[in-house]
Amino acid sequence: MDFEGYRSQFPITNTYTFMNHAAISAPPVIVARAVQELLHEFTHSGISCYPKWMKRVEEVRGLASQLIKASPEEIAFTGNTSEGLSTVAAGLQWKNGDSILVPRPEFPANVYPWMNLERRGVKVHFFDREDGRFDIGKIEQVLVPGTRLISVSSVDFATGYHCDLEALGDYCRRKDLLLCVDAIQSLGVVPMDVKRCGIHFLAAGGHKWLLSTMGCGFLYISGEADGLLHPSRVGWKSVVEEEDFFRVHFDLKPDALRFESGSMNVAGIYALGAAMDLIMEVGVENIFRRITALNDALIRGLQDRNERIITPLDPGERSGIVSFVPSSDPKALYDYLSQEHMAVSLRNDMIRLSPHFYNNMDDIHRFFEVLDRFQEQN
Ligand SMILES: Cc1ncc(COP(=O)(O)O)c(C=O)c1O
Repeated sequence: MDFEGYRSQFPITNTYTFMNHAAISAPPVIVARAVQELLHEFTHSGISCYPKWMKRVEEVRGLASQLIKASPEEIAFTGNTSEGLSTVAAGLQWKNGDSILVPRPEFPANVYPWMNLERRGVKVHFFDREDGRFDIGKIEQVLVPGTRLISVSSVDFATGYHCDLEALGDYCRRKDLLLCVDAIQSLGVVPMDVKRCGIHFLAAGGHKWLLSTMGCGFLYISGEADGLLHPSRVGWKSVVEEEDFFRVHFDLKPDALRFESGSMNVAGIYALGAAMDLIMEVGVENIFRRITALNDALIRGLQDRNERIITPLDPGERSGIVSFVPSSDPKALYDYLSQEHMAVSLRNDMIRLSPHFYNNMDDIHRFFEVLDRFQEQN
């Protein structure tokens, strides 16, 4: 696979050694071009292009469904992950005394939508991660009568732990629980099969591993669980025959599309579509293999330097992220890396590295060259 051939798609490589896809990606040229061409149509042709734009929206819905092995009518476009999870939280019919289980620590996008239900008598219980990991035993400890749903990140934003969604799905099936997944840290890098994992709801934004822009993502609502969700926000697009403006009725669309209330973020969807075209062309399995090889080199280099790696290293637990607690002052190291145009993240006292498929071994060498220089000076 000619990964190097794709590097020119990423102008960020001219100015940065960019290993920060777990934060916000710098999209490829084709994403920028797709949005520029769309805006040209908006400014020069206006509404006459509307049917064409809607056709592309449906194509992109198809791409999103392929990416997670679902059907297009199980996908609703959203603004971001938080909105997707909030749609699920607000849409289920809760009873006083119901409970939800969430890992701790967890990125807040997958915590606050559930805590927002506490005023409706729903309790959020946390099960603790250990160095990012959790297993069914941990969940079993906090499972209380009245538990209806478990919501987890497929990949932990801090340590990069990739949880075993198939085992979790199996557990949820046995216990008759709903499974909700925040997949923003895995889509585009780790293959996803929502049906095999028994996932009922999945939300993600496009601006990390999917290589798109901020402000557009999607929510998967499984056909099986669709009937449990009622849209808390509706508009003209929520109903069937949406363009029959003078006929007032309340026949909601029978699928995930009823969660799209009004005019779409067409520019965001065009960006996401171009990015997913690229991801599919390269292939998520190939991307995962490539990133794993780059991360293997990072792990070896960190181990050689006796740095404390936090990321779980078992093959089934790997993702795109490698996090370590440096032996030197983390903030000072982070500042030095930033000054050297090395884009990474600082999370607590961890440096988080997250390369994508277009990164190469020169990037890895450069990282260690800068790290070694910093260590020598400090
Ligand atoms: C696990 C996880 N969920 C969600 C988000 C972002 O949420 P949103 O798409 O709502 O901005 C992030 C990172 O910013 C994250 O790491």
